[in-house]
Amino acid sequence: MEPQPPTHPSSPEPSQRVDVNNRLKRFSTFWIGCILFVAFGLASLVLGIGFNKPAASSIDKVTSKRRVMIKRNVDKAHAGAREKALLSFERVGSHFLETAPAPDEKPEFVLPGSATQKRKASGGSGIVIPADFPEVDPDAPVDIAVMERGKATFAICSACHGLEGEGMYHINKTGPPLADSEWVTGPVANLIAIQFRGLSGPIEVNGEKYTPVAPMAPLPLDNDSIAAVLTYIRNSFGNKASPVTPEQVEAMRGELGKPMLSPADLIPPTVATSSN
Ligand code: HEC
Repeated sequence: MEPQPPTHPSSPEPSQRVDVNNRLKRFSTFWIGCILFVAFGLASLVLGIGFNKPAASSIDKVTSKRRVMIKRNVDKAHAGAREKALLSFERVGSHFLETAPAPDEKPEFVLPGSATQKRKASGGSGIVIPADFPEVDPDAPVDIAVMERGKATFAICSACHGLEGEGMYHINKTGPPLADSEWVTGPVANLIAIQFRGLSGPIEVNGEKYTPVAPMAPLPLDNDSIAAVLTYIRNSFGNKASPVTPEQVEAMRGELGKPMLSPADLIPPTVATSSN
């Protein structure tokens, strides 16, 4: 007789015995599977933590000393830079405190046709030269720095009078020439008054008659700029005449606000022989 596998009392059929065996196998396989699963999980957990931690901490150990040193150096450098910055701020700040601001020279501007202009105009339309008008030696040397400044200011005038003082009249009937103009080398008071009051009306320059489409508007710049630009036009484009000083311009400030000049208001250039 063949040895029979242990049988369950409630399962007498051979087919059912095989079933019982399979159930046992399945039961144990299930638990072994569970244990393996948990064991594998635990192992990977332990290994995972183990792999991460020692690697990081070992790099930390190697570099921490160096990092502390670097941080200390950086902190020191920062502190030094801050000290330097504070020092320079202090220097700049004290400089600002020491140097008092100088007020900009604001040229007075009187609107043509305004009440101020009319009040100022009550003195008549002619040019008034004050008794203490400063004279300048016709042969006085011309300052190169003044010429430079005058050339810069002349950029405004060149729009109507041409870059070389040739005038723009032949192109668009605006400014007559300043080159070879008896007005330019003539009395300084005329030139200053033209700046303050403008000029309108047919004018003869170097034997030619000009009837510009628009008058020359007043250009009341500051004293230094007017002196420089007038010195420049009197000593450029072939012209040669005495320099104009800011004091002379200041002396003529009374002209500012008077009505626009006509050529008849100007001092005839041929009469004034002293050229100022
Ligand atoms: C918008 C155009 C214009 C500008 C800018 C201008 N002028 Fe004139 N200027 C004229 C006109 C136009 C006349 C002639 C006015 C008239 O008689 O009707 C004139 C006349 C003159 C005259 C006398 C006439 C002559 O040709 O000698 C002088 C000097 C003069 N200008 C100087 C200047 C100076 C200096 C500047 C710059 C600071 C200047 N002008 C800027 C238009 C201008």
